[in-house]
Amino acid sequence: MIPDEVVEQVSQQADIVAIISEYVRLKKVGSVWRGPCPFHQGTNANFSVQPRGGYTCFVCGEKGSVFTFVQKRLGMSFVEAVKYVGAKSGIEVTEVDRKREGPDPREPMWELQATVAEFFQRTLWDEPAGAHAREYLASRAVSRATAERFGIGFAPREIGAMRAHLNGLGYDDERLLAAGLLVMREEREEPRPRFRDRLIFPILDQSGHTIGFGGRLLGPGEPKYLNSAESEIFAKGKTLYNLSFARNAIRREDRAIVVEGYFDVLRLVDAGVEHVVAPMGTALTEPQAELIGRYTKHVFLLYDSDGPGQKATFRAADALLAKGHEVRVVTLPEGEDPDTFTRERGREAVERLIEDAMDVFDRKVQLLQRAGWFSDLQHKRRALDRLLPTIRAASDPITRDLYLARAADAAGIAREVLLRELHAAPRRGTARTAAVTPVAAAGGPVRTASAPVPSGPYRSSVEQGNAEQTLIRVLLTQPVWQDWIFEAIGRLEAEEFPGDEAGGAEALDEDPHAALRDPVYRAIYQALQKHGADAAPEMVAEELDALAIHVYEDLRGEPDAVVDAKRSIEDAMRQLRARSLDARVRALKSLLSLAGEGEKDQINLSIKKLADEKRSLGAQHWGMVPNRK
Ligand code: CTP
Ligand code: MN
Repeated sequence: MIPDEVVEQVSQQADIVAIISEYVRLKKVGSVWRGPCPFHQGTNANFSVQPRGGYTCFVCGEKGSVFTFVQKRLGMSFVEAVKYVGAKSGIEVTEVDRKREGPDPREPMWELQATVAEFFQRTLWDEPAGAHAREYLASRAVSRATAERFGIGFAPREIGAMRAHLNGLGYDDERLLAAGLLVMREEREEPRPRFRDRLIFPILDQSGHTIGFGGRLLGPGEPKYLNSAESEIFAKGKTLYNLSFARNAIRREDRAIVVEGYFDVLRLVDAGVEHVVAPMGTALTEPQAELIGRYTKHVFLLYDSDGPGQKATFRAADALLAKGHEVRVVTLPEGEDPDTFTRERGREAVERLIEDAMDVFDRKVQLLQRAGWFSDLQHKRRALDRLLPTIRAASDPITRDLYLARAADAAGIAREVLLRELHAAPRRGTARTAAVTPVAAAGGPVRTASAPVPSGPYRSSVEQGNAEQTLIRVLLTQPVWQDWIFEAIGRLEAEEFPGDEAGGAEALDEDPHAALRDPVYRAIYQALQKHGADAAPEMVAEELDALAIHVYEDLRGEPDAVVDAKRSIEDAMRQLRARSLDARVRALKSLLSLAGEGEKDQINLSIKKLADEKRSLGAQHWGMVPNRK
């Protein structure tokens, strides 16, 4: 904070006419100065500035002090405005710490990160090792000026350069290891840099401290992007890339554009659109939404037009709505991301797209409508299950009401019915909503889906997870049964998900329509289905993330775990069948609240049929045969 007496002093000393004159053509009229109002873009001289006071517009009513003017016109915070005016008036303005607790203990860590950033930057521009990266930037049409503005650098492939440089500056290995800049693979080995052969994007917190890095490989390879590890100073989920530079523009424009990637930010800023921020490879979190909320309540989501991008859009929207934002969705043409689009079509084109942005809820309704999801009862149910969470997410009561009315209208359902649904507990565990992958549910990585690998055996939290595991075990150890298993599971899925196409609303359809509910077992199952249960392990592993590979290896490692395959399969199938029938019953029951009288009888009849079927499961004859190969 700035002491009151300093604020007072700056306000007394400031030449308000001179400061405003930089933005408005003022003419002296009597004791005041007049000009066209910059706030409502007036053309007549209705805007008046008093040399010893503030400003007023007689038409739009804007008025305030020299500080207000600077805040509104330049998008600064109060503290920044006082500093700005102070600098123009020859008064040094220093903030004092409210708590007077001495320097922030994180200071040395920020300083180290900033020092490394400088090293990377110098390597990029001044070293032969940076040549490749300079070419890469040029190939992506990033000018030196833009790259410098973002502090972009290059981490050399060579192992010793960064370490030697920092050691020379007095940072010992211990500090570099603690900061995650060096990593030790094995005890006796030399420490190596975390970032090697990567283009480096320094990541700053909203106050401009360097807290970490994102590094992109110049060529193909995995992972494409690598970020600094989470630490005392770096929390990915609470940080937004470019916020420290964008925040003034965000205040000024009273809106923020959220994009997915570093290059999208670079391109837009380069094109002159400055109020842009990005999360770093993870779904937008509520803390990030809150962070934006300090500067504006109007957010435009400008994500890649691909499937993952669309899904990420709607997930981000819910986090933003929860924090009271008004959320709009910008739709890019097929196959484009903000980087490519802006590069090809220029600033005006992208600004036009942004102007055409649609409220996120209307966009959802539109997608569902186009996909025909409001046509019959079953689809309506699914559509509402997609809309209700968003209505619930909206923390602003007016927005909620509006959304409710729109959903009721689109689905042709009474508002009261929807309202009841809204207040009921969210529906879970139905055939449709049975399994959302833990990664997605936790708001985890969007594109790099990699759950932590447990040290012990994997424990599925899914009901009947053991039955799923048994089937995978049999597939892995006795592949003669594979045709039979694939067929039986296929039949089960056909019954539970008949003709279930998203029809263009895929982005809103998070559920995998699969008989196996555990995401890890499902991934393994699908890989085996694709390559054959007896496929080479490398081929199967190719399809799996780290966790699934771990589980796959574990299950493969016990060739004798299944003794009587035939019985084990029958048992497992019976359990999955029962679970599937339960899910179908739940799905039908959930239709009752939306159904008319005639429809209700039909539904109840179907429910009864399914219950009968479940009762007869025990006696069912499976007619199993192994492959004839
Ligand atoms: N990301 C990540 N890890 C990956 C891929 C992406 O952390 N393996 C993050 C990065 O922050 C990236 C963002 O997700 O900027 C968006 O991903 P993508 O669209 O693939 O990145 P782009 O910025 O478009 O990357 P590029 O244009 O360099 O391919
Ligand atoms: Mn992209």
